[in-house]
Amino acid sequence: MHSKEFGPFAPRKEDILHYEPQYKIVSCWINGIKVTKMTDVRASLTDFLRNDFGLTSVKKGCEVGECGACAVLIDGESFNSCIYLAIWAEGKDIWTTEGLTASDGSLSIIQQAFVDEAAVQCGFCTPGFIVSATEIIARGKYYTIDELRKELANHMCRCTGYENILIAVQKANNIENGFELEEEHVVNRISQENKKDYM
Ligand code: FES
Ligand code: FES
Repeated sequence: MHSKEFGPFAPRKEDILHYEPQYKIVSCWINGIKVTKMTDVRASLTDFLRNDFGLTSVKKGCEVGECGACAVLIDGESFNSCIYLAIWAEGKDIWTTEGLTASDGSLSIIQQAFVDEAAVQCGFCTPGFIVSATEIIARGKYYTIDELRKELANHMCRCTGYENILIAVQKANNIENGFELEEEHVVNRISQENKKDYM
């Protein structure tokens, strides 16, 4: 076709461009607060939480659902927010690690267990682990270290190593659900007497 029949040098014609809307309003609950926000229909929940609400505990690791760094609770279930569209959050109850801290800044039992068990090094993977651990603990069931290893297999840590993380999750689970602390939770970490500090 001749270049003057289309493109920038063709005669103008009046018309209206029709595009599908690129933005939608999403209403949901984030860390216990009702929010309403316009978002790009292509935005991931990770970007929505980080960019629009400053919740930077939601980490961008692989961004393809492989590492667990971006995990958040959606209606009580841990989910990789990088492979979840922000617009799917409509009406959902979302929790990030920020929401687990009390209003006076004190840490939750699972957060404190990560500190006490030296389960953090660079900290990049930590919020995701804590979110998934929160779901596990809420089940009210006892878990061995091997069972927790399977439960948390979708999370990657590149520096701490997994043992301390698993011990921290088991300890928080035992404390929250009233199971006896195990030896590895006590030695060089917290004593049974100090256990009351967590209650
Ligand atoms: S950043 Fe979402 S799973 Fe890795
Ligand atoms: S503490 Fe660095 S990746 Fe887990």
